[in-house]
Amino acid sequence: MIYLFLPLQEIALARIKMQKPKAMWEKISDLLNEQEEDLSGQMTNELTVNMEDIQFAYDSQNHIFENMNIHVKSGESIAIVGKTGSGKSTLYKLLAKFYPTEKGQFTIGDTNAAELSTGSLRKRMAYINRNTYIFNGTVQDNIALNGTCPSEMIEKALAIACLNDEFTPRSVVGSEGKAISDGQRVRLAIARAVIKQPDIFLIDEALTALDPSTEKKILKNLKETFPKATVMIITHRDTILEAMDRVFVLHDKRFSDGMSVQELHENEAFKTLFSYSERGR
Ligand SMILES: Nc1ncnc2c1ncn2[C@@H]1O[C@H](COP(=O)(O)OP(=O)(O)OP(=O)(O)O)[C@@H](O)[C@H]1O
Ligand SMILES: [Mg+2]
Repeated sequence: MIYLFLPLQEIALARIKMQKPKAMWEKISDLLNEQEEDLSGQMTNELTVNMEDIQFAYDSQNHIFENMNIHVKSGESIAIVGKTGSGKSTLYKLLAKFYPTEKGQFTIGDTNAAELSTGSLRKRMAYINRNTYIFNGTVQDNIALNGTCPSEMIEKALAIACLNDEFTPRSVVGSEGKAISDGQRVRLAIARAVIKQPDIFLIDEALTALDPSTEKKILKNLKETFPKATVMIITHRDTILEAMDRVFVLHDKRFSDGMSVQELHENEAFKTLFSYSERGR
């Protein structure tokens, strides 16, 4: 999942940067031999996500989703909550077409997802989780993987990711530089995603590595910088929910309707998940 959603060229270059110099030329020839990803398929500007009556199983027996629906408007901020192992990350894998859906309708921006190449789809998405690979090198190299990004953009990305007090683009990170914390790793991943300027941010529990106030600040920064982008956040923590437009609860192989925080507190699956009754809330 490290390279998920990066264009092929960036992946190959990042791979090269991780090699010892001796292996580098061999890797460059690998890169030259790799084919460009197919970017076919017409996509609209607004990437509304519509999944209707979806069924999905990894092993054809245990269904992760059954009659699952989710509708997310372009530009919305939504949170996804649900029990561990219930299928939240699987939703992202389906959205990025790592697996085909079994039945039902799946459209993105009014186009049938089956007609879109994975290249054209993933180009418009950024995936952020807690395991982002950071290689030895400067912050700039780690954020702009293909090395062509102006340093003002890197600085802006660092500010959006609330990292500008800790790093400059020239800071060296990794085992030859400053060892980074989990929260810095996540924020570097955010900065890397920002440079990509995606239409959909898929954040998988990453922000829970941060304190709640930094978590909210980063969401605010993303929304201000990319007002038309959709932000989807999977979370096990309730600190960000108020800042979201709607929250979806994954329960019993399907999603609830998108709810406001007020509606959420009436939802039985949500109350169980966050043990509200036990806390007397
Ligand atoms: N590649 C895979 N092959 C087979 N089964 C998988 C695969 N990935 C996930 N699963 C299974 O699918 C189910 C849903 O996994 P998923 O990662 O989507 O859950 P999740 O809701 O994201 O959980 P968590 O909150 O722990 O991250 C789990 O039972 C998991 O074991
Ligand atoms: Mg998960």
